[in-house]
Amino acid sequence: MCGIVGYAGNKEALAVIIDGLKKLEYRGYDSAGVAFQKGNDLVITKAAGSVASLETALGEQNSSINVGIGHTRWATHGRPTDENAHPHSSCCGKIALIHNGIIENYRAIRQRMTSEESHKFISETDTEVLVHLVEENYEGDLLQAVRTALKDVKGSYGLVVISSAEPGRMICARQDSPLIIGLGEGENFIASDIPALLAHTRRTIVLEDGEFASITMDKVEVFDHKGQPVEKEVLEITWDIEAAEKGGYEHFMLKEIMEQPTAVKETMRQRIDVEKGRVDLSELAFTSSQLESLDKVYIVACGTAYHAGLLGKAIIEKLANLPVEVDVASEFRYREPLFKKNQLVIVISQSGETADTLAALRLARQKSLQVLAITNVVGSTVSREADHVLYTWAGPEIAVASTKAYLTQLISIYLVALYFGEVRGAIEKEYLSEIVKGLNRLPSQLKDVLSEESVNRLKAYCEHLAGWESAFFVGRNLDYPVAMEGALKLKEISYIHAEAYPAGELKHGPLALIVEGIPVIALATQKAVLDKTLSNIQEVNARGGAVFAITQEGFEDVSRQVESIFYLPPIEDILAPVLSAVPTQLIAYYAAIARGSSVDKPRNLAKSVTVE
Ligand code: G6P
Repeated sequence: MCGIVGYAGNKEALAVIIDGLKKLEYRGYDSAGVAFQKGNDLVITKAAGSVASLETALGEQNSSINVGIGHTRWATHGRPTDENAHPHSSCCGKIALIHNGIIENYRAIRQRMTSEESHKFISETDTEVLVHLVEENYEGDLLQAVRTALKDVKGSYGLVVISSAEPGRMICARQDSPLIIGLGEGENFIASDIPALLAHTRRTIVLEDGEFASITMDKVEVFDHKGQPVEKEVLEITWDIEAAEKGGYEHFMLKEIMEQPTAVKETMRQRIDVEKGRVDLSELAFTSSQLESLDKVYIVACGTAYHAGLLGKAIIEKLANLPVEVDVASEFRYREPLFKKNQLVIVISQSGETADTLAALRLARQKSLQVLAITNVVGSTVSREADHVLYTWAGPEIAVASTKAYLTQLISIYLVALYFGEVRGAIEKEYLSEIVKGLNRLPSQLKDVLSEESVNRLKAYCEHLAGWESAFFVGRNLDYPVAMEGALKLKEISYIHAEAYPAGELKHGPLALIVEGIPVIALATQKAVLDKTLSNIQEVNARGGAVFAITQEGFEDVSRQVESIFYLPPIEDILAPVLSAVPTQLIAYYAAIARGSSVDKPRNLAKSVTVE
């Protein structure tokens, strides 16, 4: 994910910035850049690739630089190239800007500027409009220019701006993307993340949404959105560097689970319009007639992404009235699918590099089918070879077991289904609008599911679960793929053998394995099949199995029939898999902790599998 470092002080600024950027490398990035003042001018140096490549590009800079900004970019809008790397520069060359986040209305601003011929664009990024807006509004005070510029901007940002007209000063602003000010003696810092600051200071100020700051070597001033000065609390950081990299969590997996409300919000940003009750995926460049004439979709993926695909089948069939087949990528090629025209292949891949998924994509293209890729990595092989790409914007995922990437894959599938459904006239306007509203509620519902109280309840349950070598996950309808994903997570990181079964299939085999106390995690979130799921729970109870149910508030019958229960906020059946995945992730996590397994790097597994 993008990283920000800024410095004002008497030390050699470039060395401080480069060191800070290196401390953020673990987050993943694909290009880097710096801007600093030299004499009366701003110098900007950028390089695709690593911070080491940036250092080479910088060569020997003299040591009289004491204010500068640096950025590591993880591509979202535009490929990882030198031009797209930050900082971006105003046309006059006097202003430089770095930015984390997404500018939602950048297309409209860019169009306006291009048609007025008022600015020249060098990059493909959403960010570049910001620096031009600051330039347009500059009347001698950089802080004022940034404030005015941001009035025209919709989206998320943590940004830092410098200008050669005001040497020694950095201006920053935050909305939905973190920025932390580090306080030193005769020097001050700005960073997107704590690890970049720890070598220099532990005294910090956390900027809140809507706040701005002006930072020089000896002064830090913070203002609210109205421009009023704000007294900020100074926080002392007690984390060591390892804890800081994980945002204070013990493992990347837990950090990534906790990031899900934000990741889901980012994936929907710019794409759902709650007021109009619509989804806009015009970024995919399908023509209406292409979508109208579709008569089948294949979804192909591996591992966790395959489970997102299984849910995709139910979701796309229901919302877009399109038949869907789902395949594990390593099997797809060998079963000789009956390809016909008017079929679409959707590949889902977090990394965009999985060899089997890539082979499936190539097969489809060779047979002249259109391919839509849902992926998390801009510039990945899958993204380059597909006809259409929908990015998940989960940010880099470091833990091998996928969590936030999975949830954003799922969100992307809802978006595709709703978009296709509307274009194909397959979904009622009111229902579409209702689901869009439901999607919009998900980030705050996810926060509820991740509350301390909920987490503690799951943690307590895992003390019991961790003592077993075998467990079952069961569910019907949309709950079944969630059960499969829950079982995969548990296997991957706790090494407990976990099997997922459609609840109605228990009696055709697995019931033979139900013994006194064996853990059975029952997903019971689907109102449409609740009574039937409850009957299956009774079958387990009758054989002494210990059922832990994941259900919705309001499904009170469930509590009377199970040993323990976890309630999700009330939600439409079709959206429930987004919420119900989270307790299964936490169950896997805390079971692994209780068994002392290596959570982020499970034995024998890799994050990205580039062999067939
Ligand atoms: C590996 C990872 C899984 C992932 C799968 C597919 O097995 O450990 O977490 O789901 O590959 O990866 P992809 O990058 O294609 O989503």
